[in-house]
Amino acid sequence: DLDLSLRPSSLNEYIGQDRLKENLKVFIEAARTRHETLDHVLFYGPPGLGKTTLANIIANEMKGNLKTVSGPAIQKRGDLAAVLSTLEAGDVLFIDEIHRLNKSIEEILYSAMEDYFLDIIIGKDSGTAHSIRLDLPPFTLVGATTRAGDLSAPLRDRFGISSSMEYYTINDLSKIVLRTANVFSTGVDEDAVREIALRSRGTPRIANRLFRRVRDFAEVYNEGYITRDIADHALDRLQIDEIGLDRVDYKVLEGIQERFNGGPVGMEALASSIGEEPYTLEDVYEPYLLQIGFLNRTPRGRVITSKGLAHLRKHQGRDKPIAF
Ligand code: ADE
Repeated sequence: DLDLSLRPSSLNEYIGQDRLKENLKVFIEAARTRHETLDHVLFYGPPGLGKTTLANIIANEMKGNLKTVSGPAIQKRGDLAAVLSTLEAGDVLFIDEIHRLNKSIEEILYSAMEDYFLDIIIGKDSGTAHSIRLDLPPFTLVGATTRAGDLSAPLRDRFGISSSMEYYTINDLSKIVLRTANVFSTGVDEDAVREIALRSRGTPRIANRLFRRVRDFAEVYNEGYITRDIADHALDRLQIDEIGLDRVDYKVLEGIQERFNGGPVGMEALASSIGEEPYTLEDVYEPYLLQIGFLNRTPRGRVITSKGLAHLRKHQGRDKPIAF
């Protein structure tokens, strides 16, 4: 599938996250030299920064199979037990959104991670119920979460390797966009690459999505070749501003400023006033607005900063219907 071909399959092809990447190289080489499985790994940080890609790469580099499950999809203890019981030695089990596993399910992981066994409870009534022990092969659990703080301490402590993922630099995003252009055999000017990178909010997933849309405009208007003008035109039409903010970011900033006098406002109240999901705002939009210093979190809620306000003022009236 297209998206998979955009994902690098080795650490050497992976762009950015340099400290994490160099450390992972050491841990992988050491584990392989000792003929051991890699210790369990936790990646945390905003969506779209490459957590799933790294899980893929770890499986490749350790020459194990990758099994992927998502926290919210696992409803019962038995669902997780079923996945664990299919693991073979050296496999990588990737649990995305691991913070959304419920507590009773999470507890199964403790013994699985620490001592490679599962306790399966047989029978329902207290008189006859008993547990049987199922041994597991050595495996590596890779967990991904947008919210490390939502993991229980016992689970967090069982990851021998734990790393935050950082927003990418413009240079690294430019390299990723160029790589994607090559994968698609699309001609692109250097300043167009940089323009897409500048508007990608530090996030490779966004860079690749914007690249695809810009390529559509280039297809229709310029025989497929991406110039700076085409990129500017496409991104303006997508209502992505010069620093990558989209309509939802504007609703957040304008909502705080205009409906709550600049804040502080609680996430629930803000989300319902602008018709967005609090969970999405908190995981996707807020982290970037915090990172660029447009929002602050205070004990009483979110506030817009003077920098955020200055950006709104600069854009005042643009893209807005004329008010009579
Ligand atoms: N595609 C998406 N993210 C990437 C990354 N970090 N390195 C290389 N290609 C990518």
